[in-house]
Amino acid sequence: MTIQWFPGHMAKAKREVQEKLKLIDVVFELLDARIPLSSRNPMIDEILTNKPRIILLNKADMADEKVTSEWISFFAEQGMPAIAIDAQAGTGMKQIVAAAKEMTKEKFAKMAAKGIKNPRPMRALIVGIPNVGKSTLINRLAGKHIAKTGDKPGVTKAQQWIKVGKEMELLDTPGILWPKFEDEEVGLKLATTGAIKDTILNLQDVAVYALRFLAAHYPDRLKERYSLAAIPDDIVELFDAIGKRRGCLASGGAVDYDKVAELVLRDIRTEKLGRLSLEKP
Ligand code: G4P
Repeated sequence: MTIQWFPGHMAKAKREVQEKLKLIDVVFELLDARIPLSSRNPMIDEILTNKPRIILLNKADMADEKVTSEWISFFAEQGMPAIAIDAQAGTGMKQIVAAAKEMTKEKFAKMAAKGIKNPRPMRALIVGIPNVGKSTLINRLAGKHIAKTGDKPGVTKAQQWIKVGKEMELLDTPGILWPKFEDEEVGLKLATTGAIKDTILNLQDVAVYALRFLAAHYPDRLKERYSLAAIPDDIVELFDAIGKRRGCLASGGAVDYDKVAELVLRDIRTEKLGRLSLEKP
């Protein structure tokens, strides 16, 4: 993530999204399926008041399928339809349009009742934090490549509608929102998934968090990946064991903890430890 989010930027981003909402029938709130809460904007309910909303759990290809199903039930219980998608591969695209139709059906029925013969297509907006996959999804739904505007609140160009089939139009610029920065664990989860740049948080801190999480929730995968007979309780011993196994050594032969941290995070982000969900409902 390249943006510095200052209070002024956040206020502006919120205003920009609210400005776009005036044109919109339905909002797609894009979340990372691996971290649906941490990839959520903390003010989202306030920003999207009274707009029909569908939650899209993106990057579902990288998340634990069982946990993703639990999230879908969790959101459904709160009255919010949620769909697991993979914007990169294009999985779930038909469901998106169908869900949007369902969410806007009353509004269009009212328009029809007023005698409007040829109702316009429903109009949709994608909102989400940086790197959650907004541009990938827009391109996927558009069926062509649309240039990325840049992850900066305030960087705008003329907005256009993209046709998605006959029934839907999508605003070509997404609403970019900020994550919940105040919470350290949220930052660590975003960093573990690669949503925020490695230079923002200390790499070793992120790897410590990630390894503790794996040891607690996916111990077998951790053991298998790094050929460990057992997982040491002590985190430094765990770094040492992985470093020795995988040759992450400094000159002189001592384990290089930065190299271990890089290796582990790269392995997580490239699914070498399998599909992982860092949050459960
Ligand atoms: P943004 O507009 O919300 O900022 O996100 P963007 O579409 O740029 O996506 C951020 C990264 O996430 C991209 O990878 C993109 O390919 C990847 N991505 C988006 N959707 C999915 C998905 O459903 N599954 C998976 N596995 N990845 C997804 P990148 O490494 O930044 O770029 P690149 O590899 O595409 O070049």
